[in-house]
Amino acid sequence: MGTKKAYIKTFGCQMNVHDSEKMAGILEGQGYELTDDRRVADLVIYNTCSIRQKAEQKFLSDLGRLKPVKAQRPGLRIAVAGCLAQQMGESLIKRAPHVDFVLGPQNIHSLAEMTRENKPGGVATSENPDATLLELPASRKEGMRAWVSIMYGCNNFCTYCIVPYTRGRETSRNSLNIINEIKGLTKDGFKEVTLLGQNVNSYESDIGFVELLRKINEIDGLRRLRFVTNHPGNLSERLAEAIGGLDKVCEHIHLPIQSGSDSILRAMNRKYSFSDYMKCIELLRKYTPDIAITSDIIAGFPGETAEDHESTVNAVKSIEFDGLYAFRYSPRPGTKASDMDGHLDDPIKQERLLEILEIQDSITLRRNQALEGRVMEVMLDIPPGTNGPDGSVASGRTRTNKIVNIANHVNGSDCFAMVRITRGNKHSLSAEPA
Ligand code: SAH
Ligand code: SF4
Ligand code: F3S
Repeated sequence: MGTKKAYIKTFGCQMNVHDSEKMAGILEGQGYELTDDRRVADLVIYNTCSIRQKAEQKFLSDLGRLKPVKAQRPGLRIAVAGCLAQQMGESLIKRAPHVDFVLGPQNIHSLAEMTRENKPGGVATSENPDATLLELPASRKEGMRAWVSIMYGCNNFCTYCIVPYTRGRETSRNSLNIINEIKGLTKDGFKEVTLLGQNVNSYESDIGFVELLRKINEIDGLRRLRFVTNHPGNLSERLAEAIGGLDKVCEHIHLPIQSGSDSILRAMNRKYSFSDYMKCIELLRKYTPDIAITSDIIAGFPGETAEDHESTVNAVKSIEFDGLYAFRYSPRPGTKASDMDGHLDDPIKQERLLEILEIQDSITLRRNQALEGRVMEVMLDIPPGTNGPDGSVASGRTRTNKIVNIANHVNGSDCFAMVRITRGNKHSLSAEPA
């Protein structure tokens, strides 16, 4: 009786967030209703991540808590999707017999069949090179920003990384499908699109990445275009020029450096040196002087010496990122780095991580303070008039992807406001309507 309800919990990166939207789309097509309340769900899906051990542990303890729930409600069906599902496969059901379905990121489409009535359960983790050909309906939360996949998988095999093993080989989606999807999104009122892929700048289909950006830039109704994430190994001058030249492409790039030491970059199989990376930064700043640059760093890779770490610290100081995601190295079973010599103890990794983060914090603050007095365009998280009980505060993001909190009422009917930055903070900007 009543509509069946599904609850989806997502771990990990934007790709997983978007995959969850695709699963929601499939389920809605089957008559399910999505719920935020796990207690009323007939189907619970965990979309998992295995990038670091922490992400894994979080999920496994969550899953454990569902065991007694399932014992009480045997009709409850549990599915595990995502990168850890791909990695563990059958063994996940052995370890947690209350799991009914396991499906990897390349097999999202099989959710439809798996959840069909009376299906006893199963595992779908086979390689699927045709993933790009499947046009799955995504059910997006209402709002103004949408994710759009442009490619799947990764061929880079950085030695620390599990992703090439969980997401398979790199394949790019046809540009016409991408463009049609974005046209549909703008008709539905979305104003900002973020193109998704593990290395979007190596997108190669019927056209290349720069051509793709040019074509999307022409779509009516679209105001902002973003893309994540980029690999420094294939960042061309043409791309740097396009970022500066195309009006909808936002002045922000996420360009993971991982380390400032050439020998560590080599051991990571990153295929660029520190000076190659610096050339990318120079090109980006040449064509877009105000560009915001964010990055990722891994602290304490196997064999990292105090000197290597110092090189990373110096890189952070000299580049002056706008933001940084840094992590302790976490060994991933099956990757090359996990078998390397010279693994460091946790306290050393932690100490190096904290040093990097502390230096970056003061740089971020300084860069945000430098924006004080500037007038910038903000895309509001929610349109004016709907923002809070008294309508007195609004928040949103600049084109450079900085969070802005706006004091006083924001007028106008659309979702964009010009504001004057009154204060630069560590994690955000304060502003007033300009
Ligand atoms: N494709 C993206 C990265 C995706 S993973 C890229 O190459 O830029 C996101 C980040 O997680 C990576 O940039 C890296 O900094 C971090 N990461 C990946 N594997 C890790 C590991 N084993 N331990 C710690 N951090 C890791
Ligand atoms: Fe992982 Fe490297 Fe591929 Fe990024 S480029 S997903 S870090 S293997
Ligand atoms: Fe993303 Fe985690 Fe997989 S970061 S690609 S969900 S391992």
